[in-house]
Amino acid sequence: MLVGIVGAGTMGAGIAEVFARAEGYTVRLADVDTVLATKGRDRQLAGLDRQVAKGKLDQTERDAIAANLVVADVADLGEADLVVEAVLETMAVKRPLLERLDGVVKPGAILASNTSSLSITELGRGLTHPVIGMHFFNPAPVMKLVEVIAGAATTDETVEAVMAIARAVGKTPIRVEESAGFVVNRILVPMINEAVGELADGIASAVDIDEAMKLGANHPIGPLALGDLIGLDVCLAVMEVLQAETGDPKYRPHPLLRKYVRAGWLGRKAGRGFYTYL
Ligand SMILES: NC(=O)c1ccc[n+]([C@@H]2O[C@H](COP(=O)([O-])OP(=O)(O)OC[C@H]3O[C@@H](n4cnc5c(N)ncnc54)[C@H](O)[C@@H]3O)[C@@H](O)[C@H]2O)c1
Repeated sequence: MLVGIVGAGTMGAGIAEVFARAEGYTVRLADVDTVLATKGRDRQLAGLDRQVAKGKLDQTERDAIAANLVVADVADLGEADLVVEAVLETMAVKRPLLERLDGVVKPGAILASNTSSLSITELGRGLTHPVIGMHFFNPAPVMKLVEVIAGAATTDETVEAVMAIARAVGKTPIRVEESAGFVVNRILVPMINEAVGELADGIASAVDIDEAMKLGANHPIGPLALGDLIGLDVCLAVMEVLQAETGDPKYRPHPLLRKYVRAGWLGRKAGRGFYTYL
């Protein structure tokens, strides 16, 4: 099966690795241009090199993954059976890309979106190919869950096909009907937002809030560290979608979260969020 991934950022490059590791899948990784796609591929392969250095991965395995992860242009994805897009989390970027892919890929190919929060129904409106949500978690090669999201026009056949692909690449899929935040982010991101509120209220330090949730709620990582890992811009975008879609004030993004995003303190990827990263 030929799989195209569009968007070679944190998620796209990680998803490309997931497919490149699995037997029977050939991967093409695209971005705005091949320079950016190559950068994303190189970053992902550097991660594999670190695993080789630590003895966690064989050099031959690393080379096989690398050989299977080929940089391409979006225009070259015509033969793909499945394309997963992982570009910026805005309708204004994703819709035109999916419209373009709709004209590029062969009949029967499935177009999947890794969106964290946007409507699959709207993403797929009027397109001739089946469109579905295939929501991986960060880091994609490690996290087991894939939320498979059906939009209004997504058939059961497409859902089953994508669930089967997710299982074949070693993931555990769950089917989710379209809804703001799906299953995980509707719980997870408001929790991170609440932790930001605790920090803003000065009731405990960032370190202590995170420690409290690790030791008191058995979470493997604290909510503020997790926000930094996800990206605070992504967290803000999810809160805004939850608020806009439901109209429920409980989903108000905390002003401190907004302030950090405005400052460019987006978390790990920016070197600074609630913590600083070298
Ligand atoms: N970061 C997370 O924890 C996480 C988890 C699950 C899902 N997601 C979702 O995955 C998607 C990508 O998130 P990310 O964190 O990898 O973002 P990112 O900023 O790391 O990467 C986005 C990539 O998309 C590329 N891009 C932008 N516009 C494009 C276009 N028109 N055509 C081709 N490429 C384009 C950018 O150059 C960049 O490389 C978003 O929809 C996000 O909501 C993110």
